[in-house]
Amino acid sequence: MNFQLSEEQTAARDAARDFARNHLLPGVIERDDKASFPKEQVKLMGEMGFMGMMVDPYYNGGGMDTVSYVLAMEEISKIDASCSVIMSVNNSLVCWGLEKYGSEAQKEKYLRRLATGELLGAFCLSEPEAGSDATSQKTTAEDGGDHYLLNGTKNWITNGGSADIYLVMAQTDAAKGHKGISAFIVEKASDGFVVGKKEDKMGIRASDTHSLMFTDVQIPKENRIGEEGFGFRFAMETLNGGRIGIAAQALGIAAGAYELALGYSKERKTFGKPICEHQAIQFKLADMATEIEAARLLCLKAAYLKDSGLDYSQFSAMAKLYSSKVAMETATEAIQIHGGYGYVKEYHVERLFRDAKITQIYEGTSEIQKIVISRGLLK
Ligand code: CAA
Ligand code: FAD
Repeated sequence: MNFQLSEEQTAARDAARDFARNHLLPGVIERDDKASFPKEQVKLMGEMGFMGMMVDPYYNGGGMDTVSYVLAMEEISKIDASCSVIMSVNNSLVCWGLEKYGSEAQKEKYLRRLATGELLGAFCLSEPEAGSDATSQKTTAEDGGDHYLLNGTKNWITNGGSADIYLVMAQTDAAKGHKGISAFIVEKASDGFVVGKKEDKMGIRASDTHSLMFTDVQIPKENRIGEEGFGFRFAMETLNGGRIGIAAQALGIAAGAYELALGYSKERKTFGKPICEHQAIQFKLADMATEIEAARLLCLKAAYLKDSGLDYSQFSAMAKLYSSKVAMETATEAIQIHGGYGYVKEYHVERLFRDAKITQIYEGTSEIQKIVISRGLLK
């Protein structure tokens, strides 16, 4: 067993750390407060190669492994979890799904520009009545000869208002249940495609989450990904990798909160000494550091399995389940260590606390991760 990172992996981590400190930290509180989409920052992330890290260089990607991606996601999430979810959706849901299952023509037309961040992608599975119960898709895509007619509503779509390209799951044959779901590439400019209102969220407020409405949207047949009926498997396989990205986001939120708490505990004095000299605070720090390290190992193991071509679905679910729990617990304790100062925006930990919660909900709630894990165990 080798826990040593390669030079390339270390470089990816360090580049992301520098980028986050220099370009994401300035203005992060204001962007969160105003819920303003980080357009400039996302453009820079594309230029720096963070929007298509794992894509083959032939399609303009970084050609990096999943371990490097996890390391970069952790660093960016320490500072700005809104930017990291935008990055995660583009990398591990949209680019990965297209590169793995898209046709050559689809890759030429879309992937090349998604990998550089010139185009931004969104992944559209959830509906008002199909969140955890994702097989209950109501959106339909009816065969119209050389095209499909798309009708329905998607909910909670990250990058919903800012994306250019949307991967949309829809029923092409409802009688077949989840085996009748297909996946499509939909361009924003399509007639009949309306972006609904932006959600006013608790956390990751600078990322934009929208419902999307489709009314008789014509999708050319060549924009179907894979065969008819492949859409649910496409979504599940893509989410197996996506969950590693969100696990790394949760890890970064936890590590960011811990680093702030550690630094603060050395500066803040009570009863004549820094609070880090009180054993109660030391024990909190020890628990936080231990749990973060365990979460990191799970994230890296899931990434390693994916990079090695081994089955990683259970490990990605475990990594997400555990890291998101650690994010919630660590952010809570980080506020506690800051006392009253932790409760105000200036010290960043209250934002990390609000951002942590979503990691237990999206890309499959914690309860759904337990279903995925236990089904794997009992199979
Ligand atoms: N990997 C591969 N295949 C999987 C899978 C996985 N992790 N989970 C399920 N499948 C396959 C099953 O093998 C089965 O295929 P076959 O019928 O061909 O054997 C098929 O999917 C249906 O599975 P089940 O019979 O187990 O169906 P179910 O309804 O009992 O459970 C579920 C399915 C696992 C709960 C699934 O609906 C699920 O994962 N729900 C959560 C949805 C989710 O994660 N949404 C995220 C949206 S994207 C997002 O959130 C992005 C963001 O925030 C940034
Ligand atoms: P429900 O499915 O209604 O679940 C409600 C509660 O019941 C949860 O606690 C759940 O765990 C529990 N529950 C449900 N079924 C079971 C069961 N069988 N056993 C035990 N407990 C169960 N979706 C996309 O497709 N693309 C995106 O880009 C995207 N981005 C998102 C961004 C944000 C900010 C948010 C809030 C959501 C986003 N989602 C996205 C949707 C997200 O994936 C869903 O919210 C999530 O899958 C849960 O679905 P739901 O909200 O309908 O909750």
